Amino acid sequence: MSKQILVLPGDGIGPEIVAEAVKVLELANEKYQLGFALSYDELGGAAVDKYGVPLADETLERARKADAILLGAVGGPKWDTIDPAIRPERGLLKIRSQLGLFGNLRPALLYPQLAAASSLKPEVVAGLDILIVRELTGGIYFGQPRESKVLDNGERMAYDTLPYSESEIRRIAKVGFDMARVRNRKLCSVDKANVLASSQLWRAVVEEVARDYPDVELSHMYVDNAAMQLVRAPKQFDVIVTDNMFGDILSDEASMLTGSIGMLPSASLDASNKGMYEPCHGSAPDIAGKGIANPLATILSVSMLLRYSFGQVEAANAIEQAVSNVLDQGLRTGDIWSEGCRKVGTVEMGDAVVAALAKL
Ligand code: NAD
Ligand code: IPM
Ligand code: MN
Repeated sequence: MSKQILVLPGDGIGPEIVAEAVKVLELANEKYQLGFALSYDELGGAAVDKYGVPLADETLERARKADAILLGAVGGPKWDTIDPAIRPERGLLKIRSQLGLFGNLRPALLYPQLAAASSLKPEVVAGLDILIVRELTGGIYFGQPRESKVLDNGERMAYDTLPYSESEIRRIAKVGFDMARVRNRKLCSVDKANVLASSQLWRAVVEEVARDYPDVELSHMYVDNAAMQLVRAPKQFDVIVTDNMFGDILSDEASMLTGSIGMLPSASLDASNKGMYEPCHGSAPDIAGKGIANPLATILSVSMLLRYSFGQVEAANAIEQAVSNVLDQGLRTGDIWSEGCRKVGTVEMGDAVVAALAKL
């Protein structure tokens, strides 16, 4: 039986970048005889428009049956003012939660060709290769109770809740340690244990898990310091493990070390490495429809899909090599452009990666 890949292009630049990633996936499918069959559905605003909800039950069912999911991005101004219960982002949170995709891997790797595109000095980022492991199905994103209400005195108020259970912390900590073990054996757990009860538990549980990983050097850092250290001396990190919201924020920050948020792929995995793969960035409404979005984060997400869900290491490596070869040719989308390079659009960048992959 062929392997089923569900493709969810989403909103804004989603369909533009996914089209390029699909070209690369289809070539890899052929070249390495992967036996993948692709099918398509909607998520986010596109699903609100089609089904009236950001994640339809039948889409969720298809996602459950699929062997892996490739996603573009969701959200946009068109849906910012609708009932918050059916905002596009709710669809994304629901699919992550319903599929149990608690382990979010966000690698921030600087391609040496892009050292000049980073907003930091080349010597600060040269050789950068860090992995942010973000807890994805718990914490303040999902905590109950949450409420917006009007107080007796007529004032509006709202609150969220930040819960973490021991088992939720333990399983994501293990992902962090396992990843560190196959990398440079350094794990930094980022929290706010000087203030938050959930972070105090987080730190204690991470310490307990560490006993099973004596070969991995564990450190702890408060999130405010981590945000600063990431731009001061990012190469001190190997693997960072952190909660849902801190991981969201720190990964966008880390993306700029690599040149652009358009370079950061991600994998969201369950306990058996079934996964959904998407760029870390959003639907970029400001550039949607202009044909200028960087498709490389999505293309690199295809590489992660091959590596993590299917163990297709050769094909995954080849895609990364093809991206590197295209950067060697001096091709750049606007977000990673620097003096002396040739500016290209989304489609030309995708085509160049396809051509480079075909040659390998
Ligand atoms: P964003 O990541 O969409 O955009 C931030 C900035 O980065 C913009 O200037 C954008 O043009 C640029 N950018 C992003 N991706 C790019 C790419 N591939 N190439 C070139 N430039 C790129 O973040 P935002 O503007 O805060 O959010 C826009 C919408 O996307 C919101 O509705 C938000 O909720 C949603 N969002 C979705 C996801 C997701 O689907 N995983 C992630 C983040 C934000
Ligand atoms: C991301 C996004 C999402 C998140 C939003 C759109 C719900 O920012 O994937 O990083 O916060 O997880
Ligand atoms: Mn984000």
